[in-house]
Amino acid sequence: PIVIKFSHVVAVDTPKGLAADFFKKRAEELTGGKVKVEVYPNSQLYKDKEEIEALQIGSVQMLAPSLAKFGPLGVKEFELFDLPYIFSGYEALHKVTNGEVGAKLLKMLEPKGIIGLAYWDNGFKSFSGNDPIRSPEDLKGKKLRIQSSKVLEAQIRALKAIPQVMAFSEVYHALQTGVVDGTENPISNFYTQKMHEVQKYLAITNHGYLGYAVIVNKKFWDGLPADIRSQLETAMKESTEFANSLAKAKNDEDLEAVRKSGKTEIYNPT
Ligand code: LMR
Repeated sequence: PIVIKFSHVVAVDTPKGLAADFFKKRAEELTGGKVKVEVYPNSQLYKDKEEIEALQIGSVQMLAPSLAKFGPLGVKEFELFDLPYIFSGYEALHKVTNGEVGAKLLKMLEPKGIIGLAYWDNGFKSFSGNDPIRSPEDLKGKKLRIQSSKVLEAQIRALKAIPQVMAFSEVYHALQTGVVDGTENPISNFYTQKMHEVQKYLAITNHGYLGYAVIVNKKFWDGLPADIRSQLETAMKESTEFANSLAKAKNDEDLEAVRKSGKTEIYNPT
């Protein structure tokens, strides 16, 4: 069979993890076993920066990095998604990802040897820390882990906090040991990485979007037999519908789980 290695950095039980497994199932079914998809979750194979390099050299064929991680590749336009409060919700966001801007951004990956196939949702980020976060001033002077985006960096500096770029796989440990004071993530990532065990406060700020572009190595994709490529496109279309219909529910469910754990105090700003 044709093997697609699909590497990602989050837990299996997240919007991205579940959608990757769904894609595996549908791709294998629709191609009648001619394609085998191997999903490697939890940074098992590569961390954030390494996974994009691995895709470019063909060590893996498929990834779904967060849109905040395309800057180091030289396509900083993706950082528009990191602007605070730019989307009022999923609906407004989908107008962009499913529209002209979304398509134009994916096209910008091609000179890098990458084809962008789809956008998958996660959700809106909230701030966490070990001191209460009731107002922007509460973040002043705090060391906050961010993804590798200049827009996020500027945003944290505007709060007079100290941004620290770090791979996702290192965040739990950095929070546990106090290397950073807090972070921002959708609740599905917060909960499945057990950040609630090492963060006392969570403010439901929903201040920025975190979602993904599903990408493939261009040479690999262009080299596929046309019938297989078209079956994989169908599998991807179905997986995108699956991912985007499940993302909100998953984040809501995980917020409930954080609440039930009793370990993190949840604050809902007005
Ligand atoms: C992060 O690094 O916080 C996220 O991009 C992880 C992910 O893939 O959801």
